[in-house]
Amino acid sequence: MSQEEVSLEARLEEQEAFEPPESFVEQANVADPSIYEEFEENWPECWERAADLLSWEEEYDTVLEDGDAPFYEWFTGGELNASYNCLDRHVEDGAKNRAAIKWEGELGETRTYTYGELLNEVEAFAATLRDLGVEEDDVVTLYMPMIPELPVAMLACARIGAPHSVVFAGFSADALATRMNAADSEYLVTCDGYYRRGDALDHISKANEGLEGVEHEVSDVVVVDRLGDALSHSLGDNQHDYDELVEEHEGASVDPVSRDAEDMLFLMYTSGTTGEPKGVKHTTGGYLAYTAWTSHSVLDIKPEDTYWCSADIGWITGHSYIVYGPLALGTTTMMYEGTPDYPEKDRLWEIVEKNRVDVFYTAPTAIRAFMKWGSQYPEEHDLSSLRLLGTVGEPINPRAWKWYYKHIGDEECPIVDTWWQTETGGMMITTLPAINTMKPGSAGPPLPGISAKVVDAEGEEVSAGKAGYVTVDKPWPGMLRTLYKNDERFIEEYWDEYSDEEADEWVYFPEDGAKIDDDGYITILGRVDDVINVSGHRLGTMEIESAVVGVEGVAEAAVVGGDHDVKGEAVYVYAIPEDGYEGNDELGERVIEGVVDAIGPIARPEEVIFTPELPKTRSGKIMRRLLEDIASGNELGDTSTLRNPEVVDDIEEQVAGD
Ligand code: WTA
Repeated sequence: MSQEEVSLEARLEEQEAFEPPESFVEQANVADPSIYEEFEENWPECWERAADLLSWEEEYDTVLEDGDAPFYEWFTGGELNASYNCLDRHVEDGAKNRAAIKWEGELGETRTYTYGELLNEVEAFAATLRDLGVEEDDVVTLYMPMIPELPVAMLACARIGAPHSVVFAGFSADALATRMNAADSEYLVTCDGYYRRGDALDHISKANEGLEGVEHEVSDVVVVDRLGDALSHSLGDNQHDYDELVEEHEGASVDPVSRDAEDMLFLMYTSGTTGEPKGVKHTTGGYLAYTAWTSHSVLDIKPEDTYWCSADIGWITGHSYIVYGPLALGTTTMMYEGTPDYPEKDRLWEIVEKNRVDVFYTAPTAIRAFMKWGSQYPEEHDLSSLRLLGTVGEPINPRAWKWYYKHIGDEECPIVDTWWQTETGGMMITTLPAINTMKPGSAGPPLPGISAKVVDAEGEEVSAGKAGYVTVDKPWPGMLRTLYKNDERFIEEYWDEYSDEEADEWVYFPEDGAKIDDDGYITILGRVDDVINVSGHRLGTMEIESAVVGVEGVAEAAVVGGDHDVKGEAVYVYAIPEDGYEGNDELGERVIEGVVDAIGPIARPEEVIFTPELPKTRSGKIMRRLLEDIASGNELGDTSTLRNPEVVDDIEEQVAGD
């Protein structure tokens, strides 16, 4: 580093607040600070601003219906179709030839769908689904990687009013079966395989294995041929080739069905405290309005932009901010199939340069990996097209924030650190990029109209600097409406903790810890339930534990998250071998395999530690906090309340010995 660079790094390191650049403010979609007041004074009617970004077939009568809280309803009486809003209206407005999706495969091939072409393919696939017998409100499962047919299938489902349930392609066969069973889903769209680090990965075998675990009859399976000759596969009895079907239905015209604002748009299964994944239900009007609004106000997306969110559509981030929000605004949204370091560690920057990407949204784990690889990779490319950067999924440490700001944004792009969840549908806590000062490490204030607070265990707001829990005490349009077919669990999981049912005061509890500062900026500290966040992916420790105890030779197990430089958190397994088994490498390998088989490679344990006992309190509860500290290499607190303090030394020695 030159002298100049060294002093620049030193200055950045100390700087704690950053102002939005003037050049950004001048062109921003939302730049007037009075928006906060406007939303507060005019709540809930302020949300009409979000609804106004959509085209309604039937105007709504009421913005918010709260008579049956916390089963809130938004924009009631309104009717619309999400696929119409994401496609037809842009074509009608003259954007037929604008790129809607620009896709790049891992091997370098590219495909561009204009709005006109995307609409045609969506109609052809919607007609296909109808022909297969899919009716309004039937749940269609989509088990697909990052190929354009995934958003096509999502929008085709939306067009005919069939909710989709996307299962992340990296999830296992078991996970697919569990989700199809939970949703009673009789239709599956999947593909033969995809590319990862240059290798053709077989996906269809996993899908077929999953189908064997589905308890009801599956009517039809549509298979996209992504790999051509690279993988030969044969189709089963009720399995069809995507291209053939789409070709047959080429030119079909399928009117978008009118959906009630509160009709389900999709289901998304996510991890929670117990082993059973939660089926988060999102609706057509509120969700689409909210994702469009946050794409407009936070991501500053304009129709003429090329926008890129590098998440996977298999997670909520991809649903909201690759597909629905950006397409509702008529912009060009990018999709990339592969990994960021294939064939070289500059792959993402090459894509940014080649496509003149304006807005880039990624996860802190990716930024930490870029940092580790070094700034020479982005430096090889012209990134001057970038105007705004964003992060999501986990807390970002100030060092990574500043690296992103300097080496990707060239100190000219604001960064939005956006806190939200599968359940919230869209962003909740973040700075508005043209309005607020940025403070690295702190997500920022709640968005206009969002009433997020940091409270103590009693629900009292904590003073600045003290740790507490995030709560949201007013509803918002993008919120989940319930857990699919499980209203009771919906209340238990999200509302029981802080609400006063008798007073009809409902408070949403996201299960995140946080701090707030004097300016009302919220710093998220992480999950306070048994969910761990590996590379921005949300995993339930209970699901992993049940996979571990399912392995022959394991008697008992505790799974915790431990700090990890790049992943944020990593999975650590503490296991007690069954009598007659030894806690050796062979059993360790089988535990790892068991977890990967049950959930997927993202849940691969970092380490399996065998122990004759787990540290337990006198009342018999496993001391997870202690196991987390051991995994993270933290100083251990008081262990005297343990029933079996001696096991701690034993475990620590093992971990240190690796
Ligand atoms: C965490 C992803 C800190 C948080 C959109 C939340 C974050 C969980 C941030 C939801 C952020 C998300 N800063 N933590 N900017 N964004 N989280 O459902 O713990 O996959 O509860 O949704 O990710 O994960 P989910």
